[in-house]
Amino acid sequence: MIDVNTKILGLIGDPLGHSISPLLHNHTIRENNLNYVYLPFPIKADNFADALKGFRAINVRGLNVTIPYKEKVIPYLDKIDPLAEKIAAVNTIVNDDGLLTGYNTDLTGLIRMIKEEGDFQIKEKKVMIVGAGGAARASGIAVLSEGVDQVYLVNRTTSKSAKLTKEWQMYYPGVKIYNAGLDAELYQDFIGDIDLLIDTTPVGMSPNIDVPPVIKVEYLHSNMLVVDLVYNPQETSLIKAAKDAGAVHLNGLGMLLYQGIESFKIWTGFEIDVNSWKNLLEAERKLD
Ligand code: ATR
Repeated sequence: MIDVNTKILGLIGDPLGHSISPLLHNHTIRENNLNYVYLPFPIKADNFADALKGFRAINVRGLNVTIPYKEKVIPYLDKIDPLAEKIAAVNTIVNDDGLLTGYNTDLTGLIRMIKEEGDFQIKEKKVMIVGAGGAARASGIAVLSEGVDQVYLVNRTTSKSAKLTKEWQMYYPGVKIYNAGLDAELYQDFIGDIDLLIDTTPVGMSPNIDVPPVIKVEYLHSNMLVVDLVYNPQETSLIKAAKDAGAVHLNGLGMLLYQGIESFKIWTGFEIDVNSWKNLLEAERKLD
């Protein structure tokens, strides 16, 4: 029931497209009689500054931030979490009586998925990341913040991966960080030792589900955890290949759900059971 004490949460971006966040958060709010509401706020770039001023003025409690504002929002905040600052992207804002703090729960969501669903400890492991866009940026800082031993960044455009690895090296000078192109000869020497492979590219995403994985599948092995951040479909060509190689594998659904769970915890202190969201998505057939 909405009343005079109801606190407002929401999602800002443009376009908001097929976001499932309002469905998920409002489900939890209803099921647990929490006095919140989660609203979609599609905001055009010209109105962005006014909108943020307005959120402060009406004391909105929390916001998720999506494309194209994850970087753009940073100058409007009062504080930023150190890891979100390293990624230079914020997907969650909490408003403490007018003080806006930015977080990146894509990072915490990914770490939780790997630990809880992959039953995998990231510390001191060797990690390979494929792709060098925003998702790779968050994934790299995520594993580095957990104390990995080595990171290999493999990307089609090597100028992009070189730039990213340089940044990571600056933040984590003690870690061995390498970058390579997509030519299999460049990574065949080290992929055998990789414990965790995270593919951050959109390759294999619906509707182009038959496109082969970026990494040559013959190099996958049973001693690695394979994470494909794509969740639509849940079984991508990479996940199929990981299965064939006997590797433990995870798609991006867990990261999507845990980033929302982590955001909700920051705003409300309430811990959502991931299965309640999985069941809801199944019942609503949102994952078909
Ligand atoms: P996001 O912000 O979601 O990570 P992005 O910034 O578009 O998305 O980055 C996608 C990454 O996937 C890029 O690194 C891209 O490679 P380039 O840097 O060479 O553009 C990579 N990528 C996309 N399509 C690819 C493909 N067909 N083969 C290999 N890499 C691909």
